[in-house]
Amino acid sequence: MPDRPILDLFRLDDRVAVVTGASSGLGAVFARTLAEAGCDVVLGARRVDRLADTQRSVEAAGRRAIAVATDVSKPEDCQALVDAAMAEFGKVDILVNNAGVGTAAPATREAPEQFRQVIEVNLNGCYWMAQACGRVMQPGSSIVNISSVLGLTTAGLPQAAYAASKAGLIGLTRDLAQQWTGRKGIRVNALAPGFFTSEMTDQYPEGYLESQLSRVLVGRKGEPEELAAALVFLVSDAGGYVTGTTIPVEGGMLTS
Ligand SMILES: NC(=O)c1ccc[n+]([C@@H]2O[C@H](COP(=O)([O-])OP(=O)(O)OC[C@H]3O[C@@H](n4cnc5c(N)ncnc54)[C@H](OP(=O)(O)O)[C@@H]3O)[C@@H](O)[C@H]2O)c1
Repeated sequence: MPDRPILDLFRLDDRVAVVTGASSGLGAVFARTLAEAGCDVVLGARRVDRLADTQRSVEAAGRRAIAVATDVSKPEDCQALVDAAMAEFGKVDILVNNAGVGTAAPATREAPEQFRQVIEVNLNGCYWMAQACGRVMQPGSSIVNISSVLGLTTAGLPQAAYAASKAGLIGLTRDLAQQWTGRKGIRVNALAPGFFTSEMTDQYPEGYLESQLSRVLVGRKGEPEELAAALVFLVSDAGGYVTGTTIPVEGGMLTS
């Protein structure tokens, strides 16, 4: 690494990032953070009105954004999102596979379609996005899949579909890294967040989060910026020697 001040390794000036699920929660924070670090951002999700809010936050950080209605469970939508990125910006340097749905359903009562839908969005959708990006990404590019601690442990709710999808993402991450890092120069990693405030965690039953916080060594939920900081590390030159791995950002929850 040439003589660069250490904080410069985290800068993402003039890179182009695609963020799925950018219409709310963590995805909206990821998009704004990447813009603050220097990226133009391509925003995908189904609710375009909400994407417009995220677009404004990227522009307020001084970068450009486009918003594209995208259902990641549809491979053709994923291809269209990447095509729009290429048409507008001419390249894709970063993919943040963040779109996801959470469910809780007892295994003996979960309908096949409920289970399939979670896998379609959380796991298959990440693969369609990675495929479309992997075809155009140049050496030095980076993919981050947003997994979950639920891919690595249980947390009291019946979440077979969600846990399977998030554990599957960890395997997907490992395999795409071994296919693409050496051959194409694309690093592929995952983040496994613990509990962060969002529309997804707002749906938890009364008292649930509090019951789980006793497992969290830091003793509180995470702030979205504490996750976004790990994302910037992974996709920047600072993370240039990290690939194929999953980094938990969970306040120590996985120690118990
Ligand atoms: N918050 C946490 O504590 C936590 C912990 C671990 C992991 N995660 C993961 O972090 C990611 C973001 O979750 P969040 O907490 O920020 O929840 P959120 O606020 O509910 O955001 C989920 C995002 O995914 C998008 N989405 C859902 N289905 C989609 C589809 N078929 N196509 C495209 N986009 C879709 C939603 O947008 P539209 O509805 O507009 O499509 C929304 O922008 C998820 O993958 C989640 O599993 C979150």
